[in-house]
Amino acid sequence: MKYGSMVLLFSILLFPLTLPAQNGNSSPPYDPVTLGRRLFQQNCSVCHTQATLTNPMYGPSLYRDIVNGKEDAMGDFIGKGSDKMPGFRYGLKASDISAIVEYLETVPKPASRGPQTKGEDRVD
Ligand code: HEC
Repeated sequence: MKYGSMVLLFSILLFPLTLPAQNGNSSPPYDPVTLGRRLFQQNCSVCHTQATLTNPMYGPSLYRDIVNGKEDAMGDFIGKGSDKMPGFRYGLKASDISAIVEYLETVPKPASRGPQTKGEDRVD
């Protein structure tokens, strides 16, 4: 009797833990932000890492304020590259690049390290 109620109690406690496992296997719906995050980690984070390394070879950290309102120009830039950055025109599909831009639009501005700056004094 006592043992039986213990088993019942345990199955009630464990039940919620089994739920996520059941949902986990279905293929995720197409989500450009998720795709963009993955592509960014694979192709861009080598240089555009949030850790501010002061090596000039590394790219600036990228976040939503940089792409907002300039989505087309940024997509263009990512495709063509610059003297310091390789272009991704041949490595990524146009839809991949726009997924990355969509992902970047969700990235908050990183907290600045070191001495606080006022934030708005970035010179483009
Ligand atoms: C080899 C290092 C490197 C890689 C890899 C790289 N970048 Fe860059 N990126 C740079 C550098 C350096 C700059 C600054 C370029 C300049 O001033 O000409 C830059 C600049 C940029 C800018 C412009 C930022 C601004 O403020 O105007 C964007 C957007 C950008 N990169 C996106 C990407 C994306 C997206 C990827 C991946 C698909 C990527 N980069 C991969 C080095 C890199």
